Amino acid sequence: MILTICKDYEEMSRKAASLAAESIHENPSALVSFPGGDTPLGMVHAFADMVNTGEVDISKARYVSLDEWVGLSDKDEGSCGLFNRTELLGRLQKPFLDTHILNGAAADIETERKALDAYIAQYGPLDVSVLGIGMNGHLGFNEDGVDFSLNAHIIPLSETTKTVMTKYFGEKFHPEYGISQGIAQIMAAKKVILIANGAHKAEILEKALRGEVTNRVPASVLQNHPNCYVVVDEAAAARL
Ligand code: PGA
Repeated sequence: MILTICKDYEEMSRKAASLAAESIHENPSALVSFPGGDTPLGMVHAFADMVNTGEVDISKARYVSLDEWVGLSDKDEGSCGLFNRTELLGRLQKPFLDTHILNGAAADIETERKALDAYIAQYGPLDVSVLGIGMNGHLGFNEDGVDFSLNAHIIPLSETTKTVMTKYFGEKFHPEYGISQGIAQIMAAKKVILIANGAHKAEILEKALRGEVTNRVPASVLQNHPNCYVVVDEAAAARL
């Protein structure tokens, strides 16, 4: 793992965007995946700026969703798909060659899951997977206790995630399940970039990076990834 401690959120965001762009320089036909949430907002904006100024050419690259709340489509407030479309894809003056965005509101969620696996199997493995870390150590919706050998799957949300998610939905929506790329697909990525900011992430980050590798803390699996960058701000790094 290569740990970079940045002075603040902006520096973390720019650093992570540059690392992702490097993967596309190395392989213009890259398959790319970014997370949703509060953490990646600055990173996806910085990445879009790099695309728009010509610093990175994504015209042959593909973008695939990391995860989604089951029950929400990319038109629903608080969904990862809407985040992808508004904060990333909608800002790009030159688009990706192709995108595969999960629909958590699909009538047949199992077909949606299979389509995610099929897309990654066809165009993958991921060249770069950018990930946030949940308060329980989740990556995407690989919740605590997840089977590390899984590809895309539908998983009950942990109690921690259900508590944290009120920041996205208030009392409007109470999802019970997530659909997510699996740890097997994340571990097969040629490069993984884990980003975290803020003092509230310091304890879980310490567990993930310095504790034992265990599915009780899913992000700890990244200790075994051969090309993992951890890019955090000083507050999140306080216990490292
Ligand atoms: P956050 O979510 O970026 O909103 O903190 C992180 C995550 O759950 O992966």
